Amino acid sequence: MRRGYYIAGNWKMHKTRGEAIELAAALTAGLKDGEHKYLVAPSFTALEAVGSIVKGTNILLGAQDVASEEQGAHTGEVSVLQLKDLGVQVIILGHSERRHTYKEDDALINKKVKLALKHGFEVILCVGETLEEREAGQAEVVCESQTIWGLSGISAADVAKITIAYEPVWAIGTGKTATPEDADAIHAYIRKVIARLYGQSVADSIIIQYGGSVKPENAAQLMAKENIDGALVGGASLKADTFVPIAKFA
Ligand code: PGA
Repeated sequence: MRRGYYIAGNWKMHKTRGEAIELAAALTAGLKDGEHKYLVAPSFTALEAVGSIVKGTNILLGAQDVASEEQGAHTGEVSVLQLKDLGVQVIILGHSERRHTYKEDDALINKKVKLALKHGFEVILCVGETLEEREAGQAEVVCESQTIWGLSGISAADVAKITIAYEPVWAIGTGKTATPEDADAIHAYIRKVIARLYGQSVADSIIIQYGGSVKPENAAQLMAKENIDGALVGGASLKADTFVPIAKFA
Protein backbone atom coordinates (compact mmCIF):
# COMPACT_ATOMS: atom_id res chain seq x y z
CA MET A 1 0.00 0.00 0.00
CA ARG A 2 0.99 3.59 -0.65
CA ARG A 3 2.46 5.64 2.16
CA GLY A 4 -0.10 8.45 1.89
CA TYR A 5 -0.26 11.58 -0.25
CA TYR A 6 2.73 13.75 -1.08
CA ILE A 7 2.19 17.34 -2.20
CA ALA A 8 5.19 19.32 -3.45
CA GLY A 9 5.60 22.94 -4.49
CA ASN A 10 8.13 23.77 -7.19
CA TRP A 11 8.72 27.51 -6.97
CA LYS A 12 10.84 27.49 -10.15
CA MET A 13 12.74 30.75 -10.81
CA HIS A 14 10.45 32.87 -8.64
CA LYS A 15 10.86 34.73 -5.35
CA THR A 16 13.62 36.80 -3.88
CA ARG A 17 14.91 35.66 -0.51
CA GLY A 18 12.53 37.97 1.33
CA GLU A 19 9.53 36.76 -0.68
CA ALA A 20 10.56 33.14 -0.18
CA ILE A 21 10.83 33.64 3.58
CA GLU A 22 7.37 35.17 3.67
CA LEU A 23 5.82 32.29 1.71
CA ALA A 24 7.64 29.63 3.74
CA ALA A 25 6.40 31.18 6.97
CA ALA A 26 2.82 31.29 5.68
CA LEU A 27 3.05 27.64 4.60
CA THR A 28 4.43 26.37 7.89
CA ALA A 29 1.51 28.08 9.63
CA GLY A 30 -1.07 26.96 7.06
CA LEU A 31 0.08 23.34 6.93
CA LYS A 32 0.82 22.85 10.62
CA ASP A 33 -2.15 20.52 10.93
CA GLY A 34 -1.82 19.08 7.39
CA GLU A 35 -2.02 15.32 7.20
CA HIS A 36 0.11 14.57 4.17
CA LYS A 37 3.78 14.69 3.19
CA TYR A 38 4.84 18.16 2.03
CA LEU A 39 7.78 19.69 0.20
CA VAL A 40 8.81 23.12 -1.01
CA ALA A 41 11.54 23.58 -3.61
CA PRO A 42 12.74 27.19 -3.75
CA SER A 43 15.56 28.51 -5.92
CA PHE A 44 19.11 27.70 -4.77
CA THR A 45 19.48 31.28 -3.56
CA ALA A 46 16.63 30.89 -1.06
CA LEU A 47 17.36 27.35 0.15
CA GLU A 48 19.19 28.37 3.29
CA ALA A 49 16.62 30.94 4.35
CA VAL A 50 13.63 28.68 3.63
CA GLY A 51 15.44 25.75 5.23
CA SER A 52 15.74 27.60 8.50
CA ILE A 53 11.97 28.18 8.50
CA VAL A 54 10.76 24.70 7.54
CA LYS A 55 13.30 22.85 9.69
CA GLY A 56 11.51 20.72 12.28
CA THR A 57 8.10 21.20 10.61
CA ASN A 58 6.16 18.78 8.42
CA ILE A 59 7.53 20.46 5.26
CA LEU A 60 10.61 19.02 3.57
CA LEU A 61 13.22 21.15 1.83
CA GLY A 62 13.80 20.41 -1.84
CA ALA A 63 16.10 21.61 -4.60
CA GLN A 64 14.96 21.91 -8.22
CA ASP A 65 18.06 20.36 -9.77
CA VAL A 66 21.67 19.42 -9.04
CA ALA A 67 24.91 19.06 -11.00
CA SER A 68 25.74 15.62 -12.36
CA GLU A 69 29.28 15.79 -10.94
CA GLU A 70 30.11 15.78 -7.25
CA GLN A 71 32.39 18.82 -7.34
CA GLY A 72 35.06 20.46 -9.46
CA ALA A 73 35.44 22.92 -12.31
CA HIS A 74 31.78 23.32 -13.31
CA THR A 75 31.05 27.01 -13.51
CA GLY A 76 27.49 27.89 -12.62
CA GLU A 77 26.55 24.45 -11.27
CA VAL A 78 25.50 23.47 -7.73
CA SER A 79 26.72 20.21 -6.19
CA VAL A 80 25.09 17.57 -4.02
CA LEU A 81 27.59 18.37 -1.30
CA GLN A 82 26.50 22.00 -1.26
CA LEU A 83 22.83 21.00 -1.13
CA LYS A 84 23.48 18.58 1.72
CA ASP A 85 25.30 21.34 3.57
CA LEU A 86 22.15 23.50 3.38
CA GLY A 87 19.92 20.77 4.77
CA VAL A 88 18.21 19.89 1.48
CA GLN A 89 16.40 16.55 1.75
CA VAL A 90 14.89 16.02 -1.70
CA ILE A 91 16.02 16.82 -5.25
CA ILE A 92 13.64 17.21 -8.19
CA LEU A 93 15.22 15.74 -11.33
CA GLY A 94 14.23 15.48 -14.97
CA HIS A 95 11.70 18.31 -14.83
CA SER A 96 10.40 18.98 -18.35
CA GLU A 97 11.92 22.47 -18.30
CA ARG A 98 15.31 20.84 -17.69
CA ARG A 99 14.67 18.22 -20.37
CA HIS A 100 13.32 20.53 -23.05
CA THR A 101 14.69 24.03 -22.44
CA TYR A 102 18.07 22.93 -21.11
CA LYS A 103 18.35 19.77 -23.23
CA GLU A 104 19.00 17.33 -20.40
CA ASP A 105 18.82 13.80 -21.77
CA ASP A 106 17.89 10.58 -20.00
CA ALA A 107 21.51 9.54 -19.47
CA LEU A 108 22.35 12.80 -17.72
CA ILE A 109 19.22 12.65 -15.59
CA ASN A 110 20.01 9.06 -14.59
CA LYS A 111 23.51 10.12 -13.58
CA LYS A 112 22.03 12.84 -11.36
CA VAL A 113 19.51 10.42 -9.83
CA LYS A 114 22.30 8.01 -8.89
CA LEU A 115 24.47 10.76 -7.44
CA ALA A 116 21.58 12.14 -5.39
CA LEU A 117 20.78 8.67 -3.99
CA LYS A 118 24.44 8.03 -3.22
CA HIS A 119 24.40 11.12 -1.03
CA GLY A 120 21.24 10.13 0.79
CA PHE A 121 18.71 12.42 -0.87
CA GLU A 122 15.18 11.51 -1.81
CA VAL A 123 14.42 12.16 -5.47
CA ILE A 124 11.34 13.27 -7.39
CA LEU A 125 11.88 11.96 -10.93
CA CYS A 126 9.70 13.79 -13.47
CA VAL A 127 8.48 12.14 -16.64
CA GLY A 128 5.94 13.21 -19.23
CA GLU A 129 5.12 13.49 -22.90
CA THR A 130 4.88 16.56 -25.13
CA LEU A 131 1.69 17.47 -27.00
CA GLU A 132 3.09 16.10 -30.27
CA GLU A 133 3.95 12.82 -28.57
CA ARG A 134 0.48 12.57 -27.03
CA GLU A 135 -1.19 13.29 -30.35
CA ALA A 136 0.97 10.64 -32.00
CA GLY A 137 -0.29 8.11 -29.44
CA GLN A 138 3.12 7.88 -27.75
CA ALA A 139 2.32 9.11 -24.24
CA GLU A 140 2.77 5.69 -22.69
CA VAL A 141 5.99 4.75 -24.48
CA VAL A 142 7.58 8.11 -23.70
CA CYS A 143 6.75 7.83 -19.99
CA GLU A 144 7.88 4.21 -19.98
CA SER A 145 11.20 5.02 -21.57
CA GLN A 146 11.86 8.03 -19.30
CA THR A 147 11.00 5.90 -16.24
CA ILE A 148 13.23 3.00 -17.28
CA TRP A 149 16.12 5.32 -18.14
CA GLY A 150 15.72 7.40 -15.00
CA LEU A 151 15.80 4.31 -12.78
CA SER A 152 18.49 2.47 -14.68
CA GLY A 153 21.03 0.87 -12.33
CA ILE A 154 19.00 1.71 -9.22
CA SER A 155 18.37 -1.03 -6.67
CA ALA A 156 14.95 -1.95 -5.28
CA ALA A 157 16.10 -0.65 -1.87
CA ASP A 158 16.97 2.74 -3.37
CA VAL A 159 13.72 2.98 -5.31
CA ALA A 160 12.02 3.42 -1.94
CA LYS A 161 13.59 6.90 -1.93
CA ILE A 162 12.12 7.82 -5.30
CA THR A 163 8.84 9.48 -6.13
CA ILE A 164 7.73 9.66 -9.76
CA ALA A 165 6.00 12.81 -10.98
CA TYR A 166 3.94 12.42 -14.13
CA GLU A 167 3.85 15.84 -15.74
CA PRO A 168 2.44 16.00 -19.25
CA VAL A 169 4.45 18.81 -20.83
CA TRP A 170 1.37 20.28 -22.50
CA ALA A 171 -0.30 20.75 -19.11
CA ILE A 172 2.55 22.59 -17.39
CA GLY A 173 1.84 26.26 -16.81
CA THR A 174 -0.77 26.24 -19.57
CA GLY A 175 -3.93 26.05 -17.49
CA LYS A 176 -4.74 22.77 -19.26
CA THR A 177 -4.95 19.87 -16.86
CA ALA A 178 -5.03 16.26 -17.92
CA THR A 179 -8.44 14.88 -17.00
CA PRO A 180 -8.27 12.82 -13.81
CA GLU A 181 -9.07 9.75 -15.96
CA ASP A 182 -6.29 10.42 -18.48
CA ALA A 183 -3.77 11.12 -15.73
CA ASP A 184 -4.81 8.02 -13.79
CA ALA A 185 -4.37 5.87 -16.90
CA ILE A 186 -0.77 6.99 -17.35
CA HIS A 187 -0.09 6.61 -13.62
CA ALA A 188 -1.41 3.03 -13.81
CA TYR A 189 0.81 2.39 -16.81
CA ILE A 190 3.90 3.76 -15.03
CA ARG A 191 3.05 1.58 -12.03
CA LYS A 192 3.00 -1.46 -14.33
CA VAL A 193 6.44 -0.50 -15.63
CA ILE A 194 7.69 -0.30 -12.03
CA ALA A 195 6.13 -3.70 -11.28
CA ARG A 196 7.98 -5.19 -14.23
CA LEU A 197 11.27 -3.68 -13.03
CA TYR A 198 10.99 -4.14 -9.27
CA GLY A 199 8.01 -6.37 -8.52
CA GLN A 200 4.45 -5.69 -7.44
CA SER A 201 5.06 -4.62 -3.85
CA VAL A 202 7.46 -1.84 -4.91
CA ALA A 203 4.95 -0.79 -7.59
CA ASP A 204 2.14 -0.73 -5.04
CA SER A 205 4.07 1.44 -2.62
CA ILE A 206 5.77 3.95 -4.94
CA ILE A 207 4.24 7.42 -4.88
CA ILE A 208 3.30 8.83 -8.28
CA GLN A 209 2.49 12.54 -8.23
CA TYR A 210 0.59 14.34 -10.94
CA GLY A 211 1.83 17.74 -12.12
CA GLY A 212 0.47 20.23 -14.63
CA SER A 213 -1.86 23.09 -13.76
CA VAL A 214 -2.95 21.60 -10.43
CA LYS A 215 -5.21 24.13 -8.69
CA PRO A 216 -7.40 24.22 -5.58
CA GLU A 217 -10.39 23.56 -7.88
CA ASN A 218 -9.08 20.31 -9.39
CA ALA A 219 -6.84 18.86 -6.67
CA ALA A 220 -9.45 16.73 -4.92
CA GLN A 221 -10.72 15.15 -8.17
CA LEU A 222 -7.18 14.25 -9.20
CA MET A 223 -6.29 12.85 -5.76
CA ALA A 224 -9.45 10.74 -5.73
CA LYS A 225 -8.03 8.59 -8.51
CA GLU A 226 -6.62 5.26 -7.49
CA ASN A 227 -3.15 5.75 -8.95
CA ILE A 228 -2.64 9.45 -8.18
CA ASP A 229 -0.80 9.80 -4.89
CA GLY A 230 0.04 13.47 -4.77
CA ALA A 231 0.90 16.54 -6.78
CA LEU A 232 3.88 18.50 -8.00
CA VAL A 233 2.58 22.04 -8.16
CA GLY A 234 4.18 24.97 -10.00
CA GLY A 235 2.18 28.18 -10.43
CA ALA A 236 -0.30 27.49 -7.64
CA SER A 237 2.53 26.79 -5.17
CA LEU A 238 3.63 30.43 -5.24
CA LYS A 239 0.92 31.62 -2.88
CA ALA A 240 -0.17 30.13 0.44
CA ASP A 241 -3.76 30.96 -0.56
CA THR A 242 -3.60 28.46 -3.40
CA PHE A 243 -1.03 25.93 -2.16
CA VAL A 244 -2.56 25.32 1.27
CA PRO A 245 -5.99 24.29 -0.11
CA ILE A 246 -4.29 21.98 -2.62
CA ALA A 247 -2.13 20.50 0.13
CA LYS A 248 -5.19 19.97 2.32
CA PHE A 249 -7.51 18.88 -0.48
CA ALA A 250 -10.69 17.43 0.93
P1 PGA B 1 2.27 24.18 -13.09
O1 PGA B 1 3.72 23.51 -13.09
O2 PGA B 1 1.57 23.71 -11.85
O3 PGA B 1 2.52 25.65 -13.11
O4 PGA B 1 1.58 23.68 -14.35
C1 PGA B 1 3.93 22.21 -12.66
C2 PGA B 1 5.39 21.86 -12.72
O5 PGA B 1 6.06 22.27 -13.67
O6 PGA B 1 5.92 21.18 -11.81
